[in-house]
Amino acid sequence: MIDRLQTLLKEAKETIQAVGDLKALEEIRVKYLGKSGLVTEFMKGLGQVPAEKRPEMGKACNDVKNEIAGLLDAKKEAFENQGGSASPLDWDPTLPGRRLPWGKLHPLTAVQKEICDIFKGFGFDLAQGPDVESDYYNFLALNFPPDHPARDAQDTFYLKKDILMRTHTSPIQIHVMEKLKPPHKFVAPGRVYRHEAIDATHHHLFHQVEGFLVDEGVHFGHLKGILDSFIKKFFGSHIKTRFRPSFFPFTEPSAEMDISCVFCDGKGCRICKQSGWVEMMGCGMIDPAVFKNCGIDSEKWSGFAFGMGVERVAMFKYDIDDIRLFYQNDLRFLKQF
Ligand code: DAH
Repeated sequence: MIDRLQTLLKEAKETIQAVGDLKALEEIRVKYLGKSGLVTEFMKGLGQVPAEKRPEMGKACNDVKNEIAGLLDAKKEAFENQGGSASPLDWDPTLPGRRLPWGKLHPLTAVQKEICDIFKGFGFDLAQGPDVESDYYNFLALNFPPDHPARDAQDTFYLKKDILMRTHTSPIQIHVMEKLKPPHKFVAPGRVYRHEAIDATHHHLFHQVEGFLVDEGVHFGHLKGILDSFIKKFFGSHIKTRFRPSFFPFTEPSAEMDISCVFCDGKGCRICKQSGWVEMMGCGMIDPAVFKNCGIDSEKWSGFAFGMGVERVAMFKYDIDDIRLFYQNDLRFLKQF
């Protein structure tokens, strides 16, 4: 009888050793230790064993039962640690990997980052400001007279009297110049809001990157140099720039910077209306009135500022003819970038 028990144990050891998965392991447990399992049946037969042999046989049965149970438990634990497979190499490590869907930056986020990174390369730091502004930061401190048309509810989203969604990123200039002492060298990206009908070139929400530099002896030549270098880095060294007189309340003199048309290389096309030039951004020397509002001595300090629309820059870069595409979240559009 002891011999049969030993054979059973040997057989059980071999099958447990060779088993391939958790399900088969459970079947082995039932086969040996289940209600009518082989070891269980053996123990039921102990009654027929002569009384003097029963303690010895009983112990042998228990030992075999415990050993099999221990082996089953150890194997089960090993499977669970490996995620259920018999060996770490029962899969083919030479198979090609499975590609996971890979997200990427929205084109506007990517272009905004590219713009800021170029200015960071020129030594500019990043600044931020709130989307909800007071009339003071958005207009008054920037030298907009009280009756300026931009203050009209036609153009500006008011939340309540004197509290509005910023219509440009220029108020960030005021926040920075109020808090920090010059010199200043910042780019400030952000969302801006205008009460405007949506069409292919207008949206009520869009993005701007503001930039400003304040130091001693800063003049218009510095402004031209920095912006021309930026454009050549962003669009390529063959792109030319030109500056036309313009007007903004917070800069004096003010200018509009044009670049040679990126589509026809300045030869004249439908996009540049045959002129060879496209408008790129507003800029100018910071008005002494703005310095005064921030407690900066304009006899000592001077500076320039500029502001560009991120959508506009992105539309030129990628030849996109409808601003609405940026906001529709159509994957056929977004996957191209
Ligand atoms: N804030 C102006 C706008 O939204 C853009 C701008 C023009 C910003 C000239 C400037 C600047 O800093 O100097 O239209």
